[in-house]
Amino acid sequence: MGSPVDVVVMAAGKGTRMKSSRPKVLHRIGGRALAQHVIDTAAGLSARSVVVITGHQAEAVEAGLIQPEALSRLQFVRQEPQLGTGHAVQQAMPVLPDDGVTLVLSGDVPLTEPGTLQALIERCGGRDMALLTLELPDPAGYGRVVRAPDGSVQAIVEHKDASPAQRDIREVYSGVMAVPTARLRQWLSQLGNDNAQGEYYLTDVVRMAVAAGETVQAYLITDEVQVAGVNSPVQLAALERAYQLRLAEGLMNQGVRLADPSRLDVRGQLQCGQDVEIDVNCVFEGKVQLGNGVRIGANCVVANVSIGDHTAIAPFTHIDGGNEGASVGQGAAIGPFSRLRPGAHLGNEVHVGNFVEIKNSTLADGAKANHLAYLGDATVGERVNYGAGAITANYDGANKHRTIIEADVHVGSNSVLVAPLTLGKGGTVGAGSVVTRGGEAGALTVTRARQVSIANWQRPQKKPKS
Ligand code: UD1
Ligand code: MG
Repeated sequence: MGSPVDVVVMAAGKGTRMKSSRPKVLHRIGGRALAQHVIDTAAGLSARSVVVITGHQAEAVEAGLIQPEALSRLQFVRQEPQLGTGHAVQQAMPVLPDDGVTLVLSGDVPLTEPGTLQALIERCGGRDMALLTLELPDPAGYGRVVRAPDGSVQAIVEHKDASPAQRDIREVYSGVMAVPTARLRQWLSQLGNDNAQGEYYLTDVVRMAVAAGETVQAYLITDEVQVAGVNSPVQLAALERAYQLRLAEGLMNQGVRLADPSRLDVRGQLQCGQDVEIDVNCVFEGKVQLGNGVRIGANCVVANVSIGDHTAIAPFTHIDGGNEGASVGQGAAIGPFSRLRPGAHLGNEVHVGNFVEIKNSTLADGAKANHLAYLGDATVGERVNYGAGAITANYDGANKHRTIIEADVHVGSNSVLVAPLTLGKGGTVGAGSVVTRGGEAGALTVTRARQVSIANWQRPQKKPKS
């Protein structure tokens, strides 16, 4: 067993270059706040605690982040004012026990993998300072890793403080380090701010460690995505694409067939069975489960729903189960252009067609609503045929009411079912009816005026011009 790990996530900075009223670390990748990615990764390392340093819009940042289940302790510590990364970590020192290793992460570097951090912690080994570094073709803006001729790390020099020769160094510091906490405490107490930015740089502790005769390890990785920081909308979008591509590759490696991995967006958790096919431009949000053999057509938005085996979702369908959730059974056919809202629960072999909206309603096995219809707060029995243009009038202006349509009912086209009402088993509603009292089992309910036909009807004629 190594030393316990306490993680410090720096998230107090302003993020000026985002040009946004939202704090930078709350901008999202894959539907999750940048700093939440970092916290979730830390939770996966079995860290003893995670301390998030907040400052700029601290309340919003603290409210926007949640403690993952796997993490026993998430605390927030304020940094006021924000005087640099060294000053940020100083604020955490009172809550960090001396027996551990401190892993410093940045709230704006979201995609570092747990395995990489684990390897860094192993290099630290509870003894040495270990820095995560990489070589960049264009290192501008980053702190440079200065090495002695024997290759040992001497210092990190910030871009703004670097000499022309130092600016040629391509190895940069990622912003991630692991250090024995007791040593870090000692060095941080000696930090000054005599530099180009007048800030307390965390990176100055490297020089102090070297001066104290300590070894500083640099763990050089080649995967830029893992250390890429977000400072601008352009970088945010680039990292979003990188994230989505990794996720798409993961799905394909499980056997999911994607028409185009560069045209998929998952903003949440997508679980797929075997032989799932997903066409281009689909967006998945929240928790989505797709059973075996599910096919999703092009341009669908699918959120918070569980979809049963061999169901097909045709193009341009919008499903969002929201907090209540939604579900579709097996062998169902949904879309094109269908809309399923929170509380839509559809059985096996249900058919829902174009421009049909379903909210807070259950449709039992084999029910069909194929064209231009609304079902809200309805309980629909097996094999019901809900005609084109039929509507549940579920809202009286103050309250919502339920419509119950029992098995094998046939609702004629363009009917309005004014809730609350029940249509008994096997009944029929004539097309164009406005039904207000429901119907007995097996009955025909028609409320429209009887048809009148007048033979040889003469239409009015235009008067001749005088
Ligand atoms: C930092 C490193 C640099 C490294 C780069 C990698 C320092 C001095 N420099 O520079 O060597 O190459 O990251 O991305 O550490 N923050 C606070 N409080 C502050 C200042 C910053 O919490 O007072 C937070 C920011 O919100 C951000 C993180 O620290 O999440 C990094 O700050 P940033 O200003 O982006 O540092 P860089 O200039 O990128
Ligand atoms: Mg930065």
